[in-house]
Amino acid sequence: MEDQVFEEELKRKSATVEQVIRRYLPKDDGGYAKKIREAMCYSMEVGGKRLRPLLMYESYHLFGGESAIVEPFMAAIEMIHTHSLIHDDLPAIDNDDLRRGKPTTHAVYGEPMALLAGDALLNYAYETAFQSFLYIYGRDDFQETGERIVEALRTLSEKTGIRGMLAGQSVDVENEKSGHLSIDRDMLDYIYEYKTSKLIEAPLEIGAILAGADKSDLFCMNDLGKKIGLAFQIQDDILDVTGDEKELGKPLHSDERNEKTTYVTLFGVDGARAKVEVLTEQAVGILETVPGDTAFLIRLVKELAGRTK
Ligand code: IPE
Ligand code: IPE
Ligand code: MG
Ligand code: MG
Ligand code: MG
Repeated sequence: MEDQVFEEELKRKSATVEQVIRRYLPKDDGGYAKKIREAMCYSMEVGGKRLRPLLMYESYHLFGGESAIVEPFMAAIEMIHTHSLIHDDLPAIDNDDLRRGKPTTHAVYGEPMALLAGDALLNYAYETAFQSFLYIYGRDDFQETGERIVEALRTLSEKTGIRGMLAGQSVDVENEKSGHLSIDRDMLDYIYEYKTSKLIEAPLEIGAILAGADKSDLFCMNDLGKKIGLAFQIQDDILDVTGDEKELGKPLHSDERNEKTTYVTLFGVDGARAKVEVLTEQAVGILETVPGDTAFLIRLVKELAGRTK
């Protein structure tokens, strides 16, 4: 895909994703709980790459989906992701004061409110995803599409919880400051597969589920999510060392400060880069086997390998 075509498509799709996310943010109801709503929206509105909802949008359309049922799920995955970042940045976890180019939620609203806002965002994600049913009431395909929505909800919750992102985050915190030798490659891969890949598998699989893709396509999306997620986290490790703070929008050397084992501490920057390349090739290889137009996704995956933010 040509550069200009890709840039235009990315711009157009990102604008759609952004619109959807903003539509589902909680509104001010005039009550006393103003602050928590404000804190929830703060990090959501600052923005980010919006990679996960974009992947969901792509996967849904790739497998022929064409209704609005995917939209609440697109907003929900970004809420869950943002919840994970608000909590990840807390003094008790990574203790970072910059996120998406702005002071972190706890730096602005204080730790107690950031903790609650993170929880509330996680809960609001499910409140939002449930709204998907509103699009199908009274429709002839209520039964069939309803079952897809239930499966999508199950997938979303599984990939977030103790069989997903939170499992990875838990092993990640357990092992920091424990000396670089205590974590081997196997355990590091476990951490990355769970803390990062699960929330990349989720949108790819949910898009496919909602569109009614078959089992083998779902398997493909799972495999694709694993590869993209692992490459994405290794690139994140690299950027923590070699990135530009202004562009990255988060503090450099957070991993070193927290004495984390990463792909960079195990294999060096060059070794880590080589791994990103291999995983990216594998991800592209998977996409080449999927019927339908995957040109945009292929290009997106390649861009991620060289990302600087
Ligand atoms: C950051 O995710 C956390 C990791 C899994 C490395 P992103 O790099 O997607 O963060 P935003 O959403 O663009 O801010
Ligand atoms: C966190 O990994 C992944 C999450 C599930 C939040 P990192 O701790 O490396 O993410 P950043 O670098 O703070 O974005
Ligand atoms: Mg962390
Ligand atoms: Mg962190
Ligand atoms: Mg990081």
